[in-house]
Amino acid sequence: MFKVLITGGAGFIGSFLAHKLVANGNKVIVVDDLSMGRLENLADINDKIVFYKHTVCDEQFMHDLLLKGDFDYIYYLAAVSSVADSVVRPWYTHLVNQESVVNTLEFIRANHLPIKKFLFTSSAAVYGNAADFPKTEDSHVDPLTPYAIDKYASERYTVDFGRLYGIPTVAVRFFNVYGPRQNPNSEYSGVLSIVTKCLKEDKPFTLYGDGAQTRDFVYVEDVVDALIKISTETDEPAVYNIANGDETPLIDVIHTYEDIARKKLNIIQKEARQGDISKSRADVSKLKKIGFEPQWSLHDGLSNYWKYYSEN
Ligand code: UD1
Repeated sequence: MFKVLITGGAGFIGSFLAHKLVANGNKVIVVDDLSMGRLENLADINDKIVFYKHTVCDEQFMHDLLLKGDFDYIYYLAAVSSVADSVVRPWYTHLVNQESVVNTLEFIRANHLPIKKFLFTSSAAVYGNAADFPKTEDSHVDPLTPYAIDKYASERYTVDFGRLYGIPTVAVRFFNVYGPRQNPNSEYSGVLSIVTKCLKEDKPFTLYGDGAQTRDFVYVEDVVDALIKISTETDEPAVYNIANGDETPLIDVIHTYEDIARKKLNIIQKEARQGDISKSRADVSKLKKIGFEPQWSLHDGLSNYWKYYSEN
């Protein structure tokens, strides 16, 4: 049994991670200010975890927690995950997405906290419009928004604190993660959460562009398995893509989902979004080298997503 801290553990991905770690017999502590996360996401494991409604930007709180917590693993998922929000509020999102991370790393360093791993979660957003394809961890980066800049900087800090000071660290870059509990309520929410909601509620779905744009969609349960594998099976501070390694045109995903739901989506087509990338796919060979294989095909992931949504 390990003691595990998950910042952002009430969010979409963090709550799946919390469930899995509890199921594996670990003691889980969650810090989340519920700005994006929701307590309902943890309802099933409420009595099995320790939950703090708190911002990671509160230095004193975090220092006390880190000092007393005696954590083996720290999964850093707390973030303002909206790219659009980072464009509107760059200073605030910078404090959450970068400064809180460096502060935590620095506290671990200064106090020689004996952690087994600090894992930081970055984003495929760091690749921006760089031309390399598919994206390997060594591809060029081109962070285009405050969100992407902060994610990139924090992932570099994470790796460098490992290299400079010998702290066991690792960072990951999420591609297009989907699955139950992803919040569909903003126009910048993950596209499959919006499609799910529109299918369920028979609402029109706005398709930006012709649907030929491709994405590397990865089911949240695979993401959690990858996070656990990366945190336990790596020795060097490094960066790992987390994705399926496949690219699928958005319109194909929609058609597959329509078949699963046995419903037709009411599609309203609009101009492609400004800055939208036309193709996205990860090279996941580095992840596969440590023994990870995605278990969820797009069809199975969508079926499970739909089943969850239909039952809840
Ligand atoms: C994703 C990330 C973003 C990151 C980027 C890096 C999410 C939610 N966003 O953006 O943080 O910067 O990868 O590559 O994971 N779409 C529609 N209709 C909608 C919503 C979206 O047609 O209502 C389209 C978009 O225009 C896009 C595709 O669906 O072409 C996927 O959109 P989205 O889920 O927002 O993710 P990314 O744009 O890939």
